[in-house]
Parts: sequence; structure tokens; C-alpha cells
Amino acid sequence: MSITIKSASDIEGMRIACRLASEVLDYLEPFVKPGVTTNELDKLCHDYMVNVQQCIPAPLNYAPPGYAPYPKSICTSINHQVCHGIPSDRALKDGDVINVDITTIKDGWHGDTSRMFAVGKSVSIAAKRLCALTHEAMWHGIMQVKPGARLGDIGQAIQRFAEGNGLSVVREFCGHGIGLEFHEDPQVLHYGKAGTGELLRPGMVFTIEPMINAGKREIKDSGDGWTIITKDRSLSAQWEHTVVVTDVGFEVLTLSAGSPPIPPFAKAKS
Ligand code: MF3
Ligand code: CO
Ligand code: CO
Repeated sequence: MSITIKSASDIEGMRIACRLASEVLDYLEPFVKPGVTTNELDKLCHDYMVNVQQCIPAPLNYAPPGYAPYPKSICTSINHQVCHGIPSDRALKDGDVINVDITTIKDGWHGDTSRMFAVGKSVSIAAKRLCALTHEAMWHGIMQVKPGARLGDIGQAIQRFAEGNGLSVVREFCGHGIGLEFHEDPQVLHYGKAGTGELLRPGMVFTIEPMINAGKREIKDSGDGWTIITKDRSLSAQWEHTVVVTDVGFEVLTLSAGSPPIPPFAKAKS
């Protein structure tokens, strides 16, 4: 596959799918409380996407080569789970942190975004710090996006910020081009060297979705075919936005009324 350049009307389609994905998270937030099961969160999101937004949950039955079809409509990754956590009858506990990852398909266009949520009132300072710093790390990556920059600029910005704060960056999963396909070229690494990699051009659309661990960067399969966990069982956090390269910089497509505040260092430019 090669990198597709989206037209103005393609980007209009992406804006709609991406806003819907973010609005699913807005809708879900009040339900993310101690006692709720991740299956209940899955059903709430599924029904909202299908019945209210009239879009398709992209994860359901998604089957990339080598994977069994994904059985649910969202991903829910708790504590030391890194990504692709499968909703189940597990109930959330006070003190958990959870990533909810939503991908919508509307009129063929995909919108992909995830956020961290703190469950209840006893989330540790360390877990809150990890979630906040991972959000900032994503924005440091987003800030690099402009025509003429390179993918390595994004990776380096994220890696430098994360490692500078004593955290580690997961290497095995990355951001990705997105559009009429869920996962398109290019791969957007969350580590690397500035000045290397693909040149960014207006109309490129991709996700930035760093997975950052409190401990070591190594991960492993949990055994269910999808869920990835940290090898050392340390906490892991992830945030994801879908962005488009504009003529002058970037536009974040996966924003909505309930998106968390943009960090001050990014606010002026976005
Ligand atoms: N939404 C994830 C991403 O950001 C992919 C999930 S694939 C699934 O790329 F099948 F697990 F849903
Ligand atoms: Co993604
Ligand atoms: Co995603």
C-alpha cells in the first residue's frame, strides 16, 4: 500500500467520522465508574454508534492477517494492559485507569481516537501522572505535524518527552494512516530520530497514539489473541488522535465538546 492524499471532500468525510468517534467517548465518560463491566461499556458504545450516530464500529469482526476476528465494538485496556483489551464481564474497580479506544466508520471514512479515564476516587498519583504525561506526549507529537516535517520528528518528540520524564515508549505498535481503510500507510512510530522518515505532505491523514509505560517498554501477549500487556506488569497509558496535515500545519480531527483541554504548550498553535 502507499500513502493516500485526501482531497478537501475526503477530509470533510474524515471530519465527520472523527468527530463521531470523539463524541462516543463524551457519551461514555459518565458511565466509566466503579462496578461497571467493560462489556457494559462495549454495549453502550455499540448501541450509541449504531442507533444514534448511525455509524459502524470498525473493531467488530476486524481481522487483520494473523488475527482472529475482533469480537467486540471497542477496545478497553485496563492498568497494565497496553492496548486492544477485549471487553468482558470484568467490573472496573475504584483506582483503575482504563483506555477506551473507539473507531467509527461513517460513509466509508474511519475516525480513530482513544482517551484514558480514571475510575473512582482512589487512582494513585503515579497513575494520574502517567495518564497526564502520555496525553502531553501525544500533543508533543502532534505539534510536529506540518508540511516538510518528517515522521521521525513526531517519533523523536514523543520519545524525548516520555523518556525525559522517566517513562518508556512501546515500540511494537504505532500510529497509522487512516481513511477508507482502518489501517493504511504510513506507520507512525512513537520513537525515532528527527529529520528521518517519510516527508509530510498536505492531505496526509494519520493517527498519533503513543503507548507509554511507567516501567520497562517490553510487552507481551496476554494469551487471548488480542490483549497486549506490559511484561513487567507496570501501568501503561495511551491517547490517540487522528490528524490531517494542512497547508500550514495540522488539524486534529478527533475533537469534540468533551475532549480534555489541549495542553498550554500546544494551545497557541492548534
Ligand atoms: N483502534 C486501534 C488503533 O488505534 C485498533 C484496534 S484493532 C481492534 O489502531 F481490532 F482491536 F479493534
Ligand atoms: Co489507531
Ligand atoms: Co484506536
